[in-house]
Amino acid sequence: MTSPVRTERHDDVLVVISDNPPVNALGAAVRQGLKEGVEAGLADDSVKAIVIRCDGRTFHAGADITEFGKPPQGPSLPETLDAMEASAKPIVAAIHGTALGGGLEVALACHYRVAVPSAKLGLPEVNLGLLPGAGGTQRLPRVVGVEKALDMIVFGRPIGAGEAEKIGLVDTLAGEDSLEADAIAFAREKAKADSHPATSRRTDRLPDAAHIGQIFDDFKAKNGRKMRGFDAPAACMRCVRAAAELPYVEGVKVEREEFMKLMQGDQSKAQRHLFFAERQAAKIDDVPKDTPLIPIRKVGIIGAGTMGGGIAMNFLSAGIPVTMLEMKQEALDRGTGVMGKNYEGNVKRGRMSEEKAKAAMDLLSTTLDYADLADCDLVIEAVFESMDVKKDVFGKLDAHVKDGAILASNTSYLNVDEIAQATKRPGYVVGMHFFSPANVMKLLEVVRGAETRPDVLATVMALSKKIGKVAVVAGVCHGFIGNRMLSPRQREANKLIMEGATPWQIDKVHQEFGMPMGPFQMSDLAGLDIGWHRDTNRIESLRDELCAMDRRGQKTGAGFYDYDENRRGTPSDTVEALIRKWAEKEGTPQREISDEEIRERTLYPMVNEGALILEEGMAQRASDIDVVWIYGYGWPRYRGGPMFWADLEGADTILAGLEKHQDKMPDLKISQLLKDKAAKGETFN
Ligand code: 3HC
Ligand code: NAI
Repeated sequence: MTSPVRTERHDDVLVVISDNPPVNALGAAVRQGLKEGVEAGLADDSVKAIVIRCDGRTFHAGADITEFGKPPQGPSLPETLDAMEASAKPIVAAIHGTALGGGLEVALACHYRVAVPSAKLGLPEVNLGLLPGAGGTQRLPRVVGVEKALDMIVFGRPIGAGEAEKIGLVDTLAGEDSLEADAIAFAREKAKADSHPATSRRTDRLPDAAHIGQIFDDFKAKNGRKMRGFDAPAACMRCVRAAAELPYVEGVKVEREEFMKLMQGDQSKAQRHLFFAERQAAKIDDVPKDTPLIPIRKVGIIGAGTMGGGIAMNFLSAGIPVTMLEMKQEALDRGTGVMGKNYEGNVKRGRMSEEKAKAAMDLLSTTLDYADLADCDLVIEAVFESMDVKKDVFGKLDAHVKDGAILASNTSYLNVDEIAQATKRPGYVVGMHFFSPANVMKLLEVVRGAETRPDVLATVMALSKKIGKVAVVAGVCHGFIGNRMLSPRQREANKLIMEGATPWQIDKVHQEFGMPMGPFQMSDLAGLDIGWHRDTNRIESLRDELCAMDRRGQKTGAGFYDYDENRRGTPSDTVEALIRKWAEKEGTPQREISDEEIRERTLYPMVNEGALILEEGMAQRASDIDVVWIYGYGWPRYRGGPMFWADLEGADTILAGLEKHQDKMPDLKISQLLKDKAAKGETFN
């Protein structure tokens, strides 16, 4: 097999070049090639300096994640890097693209780093539930100081080359198009010096012993909340602390031990699963990768309400012009007013420059006339959730918008095939189900109708990436993937409070599981009046009564919880009494309900629904369901999504749990797929 690493001589400088597409991951063959390349440079007296660079789109973007969990092969990365650092000849990393993880660790083991201005550098291992395991936690603090290193390692956020140069991570910036030549010239210059800085021996950026405790206490106090539930950030902190307090060789031992612990744990397995799940979700099994895309240069949005405004912002921020249509000018004014405020908020919070926000709003136009949408390439409908209204809108769109344009609906539950039949172009109709707030939430469910064309699907998937969304394909069914699975959870939660649990007990179980909020906190946030018969004021349920009491959720200051002016909720005695009254009315016997039962009754039916979704072909793969719950509902990343979690629990455990409570859930249809998996001891993923 030919090596992915080759060498080229430029007089007295040897350039070691990796070519391992797509991202030059540091697999066994690359590590071997790097080691041999450097050894060849050291053995040859006529070589005065070595440059390490990559072909293709990027410098090494990390260790090869597909190798994790498999028996180690070839030289390890730490030993390869130690050999490089020990070289008496200067080694220069020439960086373009993204030097990430093991890739930045390669660069840190070099004596010098040269980068093009567009390059990014980072240690994102924490996002995989890991920490830099090839000396990164020990070398980075020695180069940039503990505080900056903590920021980069614990949050895994890459920085640009310009900032990297400012903090000393990059020695000099190269020309965007002359990286190799500039790095060779730099290396030749450095070769004149007698010695070269070995990062592991540096101590000049490390803090005094007296300050170390304070730095870590401050960091924890400021950031503790963000790290809650995750193992890796705390392990990263322990390693950086070891870098500050211990000699390098001792620090590396701490790093190795912590790295191995994380690598073997369920959290990292879950987060690595998600890395691939997210990328897999973008692929549609029967739509070829090279399907020609429909160019999307202008987007129309129908409805400037909660969703329409947020959806529009995605396109505007990505530089795509939007025309919004409403029934009345006031609705347009209100909608665009909210959008303007949201952009202002983004600027205030430093998320966006004022110029960018202005440029985005300048791309927005509004209209009351369908004729103004004629030249749109894509129109997304976000009007009231009513089949009649949607059909009317799609009929008008079909009549006014040019042939070949995509017509999408943001419906939460309605049948996209039925909506498509209101047009003469059902092949161009698709669901684009955004999540609220649509300018923030990353998930997009792309609902594939019976007749949706492959190029329409491929276009929408590519477009979603462009506007920063993670898209998952769903089939036409009630609630698609996410809301469909939410419904059995809510149903059981509602029953559990009637049987004796409190909303706060249930929410606590979900929060302890790692969800950002429980079912009742979520109801309060969404508003309890969705579907409430406001006009008749009929009181047929606990929810109706709460609404009639104007306890309609956070927006009215009370729902299941009482809210203060900061929207902080506290349990309500009134609501608890009301629940008991309704339970008595229904004749539901009261009993003590354990947290375990709450988990089994609310989470296991979700997994069961996921299995039904899979067996009906409404999701392409179990990992797509995981992606939906991670990006749409805040399922904790360290639990990998509901189907990955189910795999850890075991299908047999889930099935047994459902059967145990079957008398309380008589309507639950248990999935055959779940039964099969349980019988065969198989996993979903
Ligand atoms: N190992 C194996 N495969 C990788 C990989 C890696 N480190 N990084 C990316 N890939 C694969 C992806 O799975 C994808 O494969 P596919 O085409 O079959 O789906 C392909 O490369 C292209 O990746 P993206 O679609 O993500 O391409 P983008 O251009 O959007 O992004 C990137 C490029 C920014 C490099 C992004 O891929 C990325 O963030 N990669 C992971 C970086 C990372 O986490 N590095 C640390 C690894 S752990 C480590 O280094 C441990 C060490 O400390 C010992
Ligand atoms: P909304 O009530 O805030 O906004 C709807 C807007 O559509 C209103 O401004 C209304 O004036 C306008 N409208 C109604 N009929 C129209 C017509 N015939 N022509 C032009 N404009 C018309 O509703 P919201 O919450 O934005 O929901 C819109 C759609 O998005 C619904 O289908 C809903 O199910 C879906 N959705 C809602 C989510 C949410 O959390 N609110 C989440 C995901 C999807």
